[in-house]
Amino acid sequence: MRHVLDIVDLSKEEIETLLKRAEDIIDHPKLYRDACRYKKLATLFYEPSTRTRLSFEAAMLELGGAVIGFEAGTSSSTTKGETVGDTVRTVSQYADVIVMRHPNDGAPYAAIQRTEVPVINAGDGGHNHPTQTLADILTIYKKQGRLNDLTIGLCGDLKYGRTVHSLIRALIRYNNVRFVCISPKELCLPDYILQLMDENNVEYKITDRMEEYMADLDVLYMTRVQQERFDTRAEYERLKDCYILTTDKLLTAKPTMSILHPLPRVNEIACDVDDDPRAAYFDQVAFGKYMRMALILELIDDAEKGNAAPERVKILTDKRCDNPRCITCREDLKPYAVNGKSGLRCYYCEALLK
Ligand code: NCD
Repeated sequence: MRHVLDIVDLSKEEIETLLKRAEDIIDHPKLYRDACRYKKLATLFYEPSTRTRLSFEAAMLELGGAVIGFEAGTSSSTTKGETVGDTVRTVSQYADVIVMRHPNDGAPYAAIQRTEVPVINAGDGGHNHPTQTLADILTIYKKQGRLNDLTIGLCGDLKYGRTVHSLIRALIRYNNVRFVCISPKELCLPDYILQLMDENNVEYKITDRMEEYMADLDVLYMTRVQQERFDTRAEYERLKDCYILTTDKLLTAKPTMSILHPLPRVNEIACDVDDDPRAAYFDQVAFGKYMRMALILELIDDAEKGNAAPERVKILTDKRCDNPRCITCREDLKPYAVNGKSGLRCYYCEALLK
């Protein structure tokens, strides 16, 4: 079976196909209005969401399909102690594709051990968010006209910002893409993402000053400081307003630069920036629905044809993951590992196993 838990579950060519399909849906929506007739999509959201859940639901409805699901873990049997695996195994009896969001890193890897239908990760803790990346990529492509030769500024909470992790993984496969990572040092990228960029010889700069490389950027990707992932409220309060994009900070930026944000924004983009022609974050919302339509079509088609994808190679280990946000700290799961350059990593959340 095919699942999309990480953006690299889709090859560059497949992303290309999804982009073309999304553009075709935008141009000819009527052609698709019965494409998923009699199919059901389940949205299992254990964590709050506006855009991701509603865009998946709107996507399925516009394809002529139906939608079931829950929008808060508290309204499901999770509150009674049900595991992700049991919930997903149950829901796979009712739906043709499952979309799930969970507060714990790696939770969808627990889900695919028990599912009977394709699973799409709609955000797992501070780890991955592949379908936001699909929205981001279509936005960059539409606004910049290319996915190669780009300088991309990533600003804010790069540690817990799952959208940034998935976006980097996707874009390092394109030619001549450079990153400027703008964050306080407490919120810099996790080691496995930095390592990935090093291994792929990707050029990146690290700074804590938003203005430093503003003039070089083709894309500025702003993010929210992820309050819900902090260990203490005081630490969040100290860092929450570390970057606020205002119109005066854009004075040195290229007139063609695109400003993206996965949203929701809290304080990191002043509202008057919305009127700047470079602001692309509300277009990004619209593009997300079309990419999700394209993805649903693709996965349902694959499932019908019996197309499978090779599973990630995992090995049983006696080491326990010590990332307190990992799904293995919450549920009793087999301790699997994957081989990384610097040693064994948790199969679920990718933390280095000690
Ligand atoms: C993002 C998420 O949930 O990770 N939102 C989204 O899906 N559009 C970003 C965020 O919550 O800050």
